[in-house]
This record gives sequence, structure tokens and C-alpha cells, in this order.
Amino acid sequence: MKVLLTGSTGYIGRRLKQELVKNEDLQFKLLVRHKDRFPPQTNKNIEIIEGDTLNKDSLIEALKDVDVAYYLVHSLNSSDYKNLDKKSAQNFIEACEINGVKRVIYLGGLGVKDENTSEHLLSRIETGEVLSSSKKVQTIWIRAGVIIGSGSTSFEIIRNLTEKLPIMTTPKWVFTKAQPISVRDVLRYLEDSLYLDVKVNLVVDIGSEQLTYEEMMLKTAKVLGLNRLIIPLPFLSINLSSYWLNLFTPVPFVVAKALIEGLKSEVVIQNDNAKRYFPHIVPLDYESSVRKAIEAIQKNQVFSRWSDNAGTIWEKDHSQGIANALYLDRKERSIKNYDKEKIYKSFISIGGDNGWFKYDFLWVIRGVFDQILGGYGLKRGRRHPQNLRIGESLDFWKVVDLKKNERLLLFAQMKVPGEAWLEFKIEDEKLIQSAYFYPKGVIGRIYWFCLIPIHYLVFNDMIDSIIRKSKDIK
Ligand SMILES: NC(=O)c1ccc[n+]([C@@H]2O[C@H](COP(=O)([O-])OP(=O)(O)OC[C@H]3O[C@@H](n4cnc5c(N)ncnc54)[C@H](OP(=O)(O)O)[C@@H]3O)[C@@H](O)[C@H]2O)c1
Repeated sequence: MKVLLTGSTGYIGRRLKQELVKNEDLQFKLLVRHKDRFPPQTNKNIEIIEGDTLNKDSLIEALKDVDVAYYLVHSLNSSDYKNLDKKSAQNFIEACEINGVKRVIYLGGLGVKDENTSEHLLSRIETGEVLSSSKKVQTIWIRAGVIIGSGSTSFEIIRNLTEKLPIMTTPKWVFTKAQPISVRDVLRYLEDSLYLDVKVNLVVDIGSEQLTYEEMMLKTAKVLGLNRLIIPLPFLSINLSSYWLNLFTPVPFVVAKALIEGLKSEVVIQNDNAKRYFPHIVPLDYESSVRKAIEAIQKNQVFSRWSDNAGTIWEKDHSQGIANALYLDRKERSIKNYDKEKIYKSFISIGGDNGWFKYDFLWVIRGVFDQILGGYGLKRGRRHPQNLRIGESLDFWKVVDLKKNERLLLFAQMKVPGEAWLEFKIEDEKLIQSAYFYPKGVIGRIYWFCLIPIHYLVFNDMIDSIIRKSKDIK
């Protein structure tokens, strides 16, 4: 069977790929937007195809000879996600029809259309409707609500709120019912959909026990060994609640708002197709799912995170960006007597829980300002204490280039009046550290000049500390 997997750089797609490739009878095509930024695959059953679901021609090419296609594409990072997602689904199903693809498997959100349905969920429903509209291609539409797994958006919100706030004032929507499910079970439904012996379109609602958001937080607190008090307030508006999430959890304001809007409607299963067609899958209960997610975090085994997808970062040519930057803070040190590999390991492990050396507190302050302005702050941290991969987030940065033992280039996703990059490079027995800035207007210029004294302290200490720390690396 030849399978095309879309969204393989996203939260679900990365994990699904890891599961599916264990099956040696399957041949894979992975559709990625930027082939050169995806690590080369050693598995001969995997072919990487460059394409974009907004470009129908690239899909027609990618879907050649494909039997089953997974649709795990989502553009929530864009403000125009509704139109983009609709167009993307339309292109996809048309390209599937042209190529005679037999089955499309789509993972969407749980919930029904009513006056309370959020824009985000309506858009996910619309995507499912477009994909199911074909008379020639069968669509299996799996619908999941809150997914519990290390690094999933909903779980990270619940975990962060529970861990950080002993007393929580919440909107009255904490009493809305949901039906959470462990990410492991979601992957099983997706994988087993490949082999389902059914010819018609199916909508399969999946979930474990029904719980309110309040119950989920209290159960999470129990697993974490914490006592928490939740006080619902009738007057907390969507904007205020989103701001609250933005301050106390890793999600930025726009994502928080889309999710909070969704809290008004129940997200519980509407059909029993999961039991009927997948009787062998018995979803894990909520507390066990939380326990597994926390275990993965504690053991540094987080395989993917909600902030993994590249989103819009490749719309920019970063080499050109740094070439055009107006301001540069460049530091270099000789590393003649140092192990270059250890220097590389030292600079790729900056940030997150490892911190930013002596002036970490200044980064924390910058992070708090960023969050106040609706940005990510430092809350995204690192996925892994030592490893990085292209496209993933690191505090308020995104990794846009990574060359082993050579270079790390970070692009700033903080709220900043301009565009900024931070680069570490090993070249001619030297470690070169450069901060590039392209200011936006007068404010951008003032911003850069005001920060010169702080940059002086922070950047000098950073390069020296990276070299010093390399000596402790095994
Ligand atoms: N995560 C959850 O908690 C959750 C819960 C319920 C349902 N779901 C559903 O599961 C599905 C996957 O969600 P996710 O959380 O894994 O999403 P995600 O992490 O946001 O990943 C989205 C994926 O779509 C790709 N993509 C976006 N636009 C594209 C385009 N124009 N062409 C090709 N690829 C494109 C992204 O690639 P780049 O890396 O290039 O940006 C990325 O691989 C969605 O339908 C979502 O509604 C997720």
C-alpha cells in the first residue's frame, strides 16, 4: 500500500509517521513544504515530496500512485486560516480524485455546528465537509476533542495552569463538557483506519470519559500531587481569559483566543462509530493519559510539540534577511584550543530550562514583556535539553538553520519593532556570534539603540559562557 502523509512536521503528523514507518509493508510519501529543511531519511520506504496543499499542481504530482492519503494540514498560525484551510482541502480532494486515491483519512475536531461554535471549529468542520464531498474518494473523518499528550496545546494549557496557579479564577465555561483522549489512542485510530474494510464515508468521533474542564484540571492536579482551588467567575470575557492564558501558559494570544472561544460549546462524541468500527481500541482514561504525558516530559521524550510546525517562517528568505539587516552585534572568540564539537553542543543547548547564562534574568524580563504584548515569551522553552531540529521553537525563537558542528541560526518570534536573528557559527578556529536586526521605522531604531548597553553585557557573557560550558560537555 502506498500512503501519502501530509502534516508530517506537525504535532500529530510527526508522531503518526514514527508509528507508521514501523510497518514495513507500507511505502510512504511525506509531503513537506521545504524538502531541504527536512532531515534526509535513511528508510528506503520513505520518499520525501516537496509540495504545498495551496498549490494544486504540486498535489497532483505528489498523489501519483497513492492508495491512501492522510490529511493532517492545519494553518491556525495564519490570521486567514479559515480561507486557507478551505482552499487547501478543496485542492487536496480534487488532486486525490485525479489520481484515483481510494481513501483519505482526516483528523478534525469534535463538536457540532451551533450558535456557540467557534470559528476555529467551524473551519475544521468545513475542512471535513470539503474532504467528504467527493463521489469518487472515500473519506474517514476522525474527530477528536482535547488531545492529552506531552506537547499538545490543550494539555500544555491545562498543565501550566494547574502547576502555576494554586487558586484559579476561571470563566464559567470550565463547566463545559469535553471528551479528552490520549494522543496514543488518536494515533491508533488513525493507523487502523488504513485497514478498515468499509467502502462508505465515515465520521468517527473518538474520546475517553466525559469530563468538564474543571474536572480535567483537578484530575491533573491530583496526578501532579497538587491541591488546587478553582473559583469560576461569571464576568470573565473571552479577551480577558485569552490574555490570562497568554500570561500563564505557553500559547500566544491568538491561539488562546481561538481555543477559549471553543470552550463555550460541548465537545463530546456524537456517534458510536469508534466502538462499532474499532472495537479493539479501548481509550485510556484521563488520569492515565495525563500520567503518560507527564512521564514523557520528565524523561525528555517529548517527540513533537504544538509549536513544531514551521507555519510562516519559510515565507522569508533568512539568508537575505540577515544580509539586509541594518544593525549587527558581532562577537568572536578564538576556539583554537577547544573541541569544536563540544562548542557546537554548547551553543545548541542554550535557552529553555538551561537558561541564558549570567544574564538569564534579563531574558526573563524580556520574556515577560513579550507575553504582556501577547507574544510567546520564554514559555515555549525547549523540546529537549540538548537536541534541536530545524523549524522547532526555542523560547521566543525559531530554529531556521542548523548545520552539525557548524551553525545555528535563530529567528526572533518575539514582539519586536523589526526583525531579529541570532547566529552562532564555527569558522576558521573561531566562534562567531552575531545578532542581526532590521528595524521597522523610527521605533525600531530607538529600540536597538536603547538596548545597546544591555546587548553589551548579555552578548559578551553569552559567547564566553558558551565556550566555558563546552568544557563540561562529555
Ligand atoms: N493537536 C491537537 O491537539 C488536535 C486536537 C484535535 C484535532 N486535531 C487535528 O489534527 C490535525 C493536525 O493537527 P496538528 O496539531 O498536528 O497541526 P500542526 O501541529 O499545526 O501541524 C500542521 C501541519 O500542516 C502543515 N501545513 C500547513 N499548511 C500547509 C500547506 N499549505 N501545505 C502543506 N502542509 C501544510 C504544517 O507544515 P509546516 O511545518 O510547513 O508549517 C504542519 O506539518 C488538524 O486537522 C487538527 O484539527 C489536533
